[in-house]
Amino acid sequence: MAQKLIVGNWKMNGSLRSNALRFQVLAGEVQLPNQVVVLVPFVYLAQAKASLTGSDILWGAQDVSDQAGGAFTGDVSAEMLADFACHYVLVGHSERRKTHNESDIVIVDKFQHALNRSITPILCIGETAQDRQEGKSESVVLEQLDVVLKRLECLDPASFVVAYEPVWAIGTGKSASVESISAMHSLIRAHLKKWNARGEETRILYGGSVTTENAERILKLENVEGVLVGNASLEAHDFAAIARITA
Ligand code: PGA
Repeated sequence: MAQKLIVGNWKMNGSLRSNALRFQVLAGEVQLPNQVVVLVPFVYLAQAKASLTGSDILWGAQDVSDQAGGAFTGDVSAEMLADFACHYVLVGHSERRKTHNESDIVIVDKFQHALNRSITPILCIGETAQDRQEGKSESVVLEQLDVVLKRLECLDPASFVVAYEPVWAIGTGKSASVESISAMHSLIRAHLKKWNARGEETRILYGGSVTTENAERILKLENVEGVLVGNASLEAHDFAAIARITA
């Protein structure tokens, strides 16, 4: 029974008051069988740090700048995230790829800046509904992974996390089937092992409409080392229930 990585992505949700309640519920969870992380909007990182320090829950951010610092209005650097003791950061979430037109180069730079500050990047990859219809799911996913694997030399397989998130499953209530999660995770695993002899050490998460209903089935699958949870992480008790699953 291995420890899983359970990550909550709050997206652009929260307020000082509602966060306080969520943090209180989560910080009260002790002896969890899994590593649990919440990714909060930048402005609430100080609150996360103050509320979760000393608890078993870690925190992080949903994005990071592709620049180290300087005249980049509105950006937040990896160094700043490190100042708030962020442990993890999402890189290349499909909502950012789409609404902020994030290119491959930008994604690699963000990934590298996170690593430079010892923040674990969670690289989000996944096909759209159209890719799927066109039978391109596998190639799209592996290409997105290769963007990082091929450009960053000496990348330590244990230093980052991959999140497979089919875009059509995000926020739709329609999670991928366990069969297709299994198939895609084994493909990603095989690819990682071909890339590096220690490819087994990279954790692969599944994301896309994970709920209290389906989380256990998903977490029990081979090559699924955790889940990335959006909507269901906003209800602290539901998220805590997922965090307590032993798989
Ligand atoms: P969802 O979001 O659980 O609401 O589908 C997942 C994500 O975008 O990380």
